[in-house]
Amino acid sequence: MQDARLEPSRAGSGVPHAWRERLRRRARRSARPAWLGTIRRTKPLSDEWGRDRGTPIDRYYIERFIGEHAHLVRGRVLEVMSSEYTYRFGEGVEVGDVLDIDADNAAATFVADLATADAVPSEAFDCFILTQTLQYVFDVPAALRHAHRVLRPGGTLLCTVPSVSRIGRKYLETEYWRFTASACSRLFGDAFPGGAVDVRARGNALVCVAFLMGMACEELRARELEPDDAYFPLVVTVRATKAPVGVPEGEAASRPQ
Ligand SMILES: C[S@@+](CC[C@H](N)C(=O)[O-])C[C@H]1O[C@@H](n2cnc3c(N)ncnc32)[C@H](O)[C@@H]1O
Repeated sequence: MQDARLEPSRAGSGVPHAWRERLRRRARRSARPAWLGTIRRTKPLSDEWGRDRGTPIDRYYIERFIGEHAHLVRGRVLEVMSSEYTYRFGEGVEVGDVLDIDADNAAATFVADLATADAVPSEAFDCFILTQTLQYVFDVPAALRHAHRVLRPGGTLLCTVPSVSRIGRKYLETEYWRFTASACSRLFGDAFPGGAVDVRARGNALVCVAFLMGMACEELRARELEPDDAYFPLVVTVRATKAPVGVPEGEAASRPQ
């Protein structure tokens, strides 16, 4: 595609074509004008992912994902920061543990960095809810090795990661990553050998823009939230099931969930 900014230096050698292209682009802008309205601003409408206006848009996908897998949130469950989703969605939860790197978190039953979480017992949990946390862990493969280690055979990791998001106010120095579905397939596939990994990219161009601008879920329609565009994901969801005991590597991947 020709770049209109190159036109002056190309004077005399492609000007008619460049002008035609410029007119075509102007016609496209007129035919489909972009009315930015209240989001024509350089600061978002909310400084809290839209929480002060309603439900943050990423939560639409995160909570649907956990809700769809409620039957897997059972037995002994580990969650990061709080056990909110454990008890809100869980079916038959026996114990709800909380992991956090933050020693000031009174809810934490394990204070550890997930990337070096040797203090968390092996094969202890039926489910690990790891939502919106891996972007803060520099060594993601190490974190996933621990996530896999702490699960019982047949246990499930329910993980979500941001593809698009602002950087949290407290996290300018420690928020490291955004994720694609392809990266997740490789990272989780490597960490769960012989297990079953299901990766989904959720969201579309509109919800990405709305989320960055701090709009809330309630300001969008279901028909705007629901369509997924693989090229414009907001959130990536991953269900990773640890291979059951005795299942040879590779076989568990084809088992129905
Ligand atoms: C934004 S919260 C997300 C968790 C929450 N369950 C949710 O869905 O919003 C991020 C949490 O991860 C914790 N955290 C950040 N880095 C961590 C690490 N390396 N290991 C364990 N927890 C970490 C933070 O202290 C914080 O409690």
